[in-house]
Amino acid sequence: MKPIARRMRRMRRSEAIRAMMRETQLSAADFIYPLFVAEVGSDAGPVASMPGVERHSLESLPRELEEVSGLGIPSVMLFGIPVHKDSAGSQAYAESGVICQAIRRVKETWSDLVVVADVCLCEYTDHGHCGVVRGETIENDETLDVLARTATAYATAGADVVAPSGMMDGMVSAIRQALDESSFQDVGILSYAVKYASAFYGPFRDAAACAPKFGDRRTHQMDPANANEALAEVDLDITEGADMVMVKPAMPYLDVVRRLRERYPAVPLAAYQVSGEYSMIKAAAAQGWLDERKVAMESLLAIKRAGADIIISYFAKEAVRWLHGTD
Ligand code: PBG
Repeated sequence: MKPIARRMRRMRRSEAIRAMMRETQLSAADFIYPLFVAEVGSDAGPVASMPGVERHSLESLPRELEEVSGLGIPSVMLFGIPVHKDSAGSQAYAESGVICQAIRRVKETWSDLVVVADVCLCEYTDHGHCGVVRGETIENDETLDVLARTATAYATAGADVVAPSGMMDGMVSAIRQALDESSFQDVGILSYAVKYASAFYGPFRDAAACAPKFGDRRTHQMDPANANEALAEVDLDITEGADMVMVKPAMPYLDVVRRLRERYPAVPLAAYQVSGEYSMIKAAAAQGWLDERKVAMESLLAIKRAGADIIISYFAKEAVRWLHGTD
């Protein structure tokens, strides 16, 4: 028998050797933890379709932030649940609105925590759409004014980064210009550059009560069939001044993450493991069909291996505990 010159199994023999060979490592610094904040306590509580995830009240927020920062997670992303919704989404930018209040509260005590504020109107409009609606159409350019105003309000409240998620054309440049005009040159933009019209957002829409009342989001979010188009989205957002770009959801779109990584080795790339990705793992684990910890960690590792620098995940806290072996 001819000798086998290269035996791959030699370097897999023990955990110590495997650790030396490991190409990808996860760490606490990779994560952004998403948080839902309700304006009134009566809207707070567990999210049924996302076990382990809570809607926080402004009062319960500090307890959560203590935990997140204690784990060494560097950043949180804030989503608001307002009391009042209207057709213009005015509570998105109101100084007394839930997100402005939440940002101030975080920054008072946890000034080092990187606060990323989601900028979109769907949680604040009574019709549930991401922009200003005329008839059945979402008006792109009118929406930009509201997004710019909202981003400026969040920067004023103390946000480090604003994250426009509405997939409106020109949103990054409109926000960059507004921030600069108000002397917020140092506030960054994490653009949801490649956000697909995905059914994986289902549980989030329950959590944030932001499902559209009519129609869907396919006139602005991307068609899941397209990947080349993602390159155009990112080209535009970088030209418009995005500091970081995101692909969302994560696991069904790792091919897109990889292509963007290769096209832009120097642009910080985030991937959002969305609510449906989280809930699927939780649900299968609850049935005893999957090992939650192993599957969750494998999914996060895969996202990083595909090329993401930053992972936004509802598993962030558990993942860090698992990494540290404290759970
Ligand atoms: C819009 C927004 C959505 C998510 C994040 N920002 C929902 C949507 O587009 O309908 C989804 C996040 C998730 O599913 O975890 N503000």
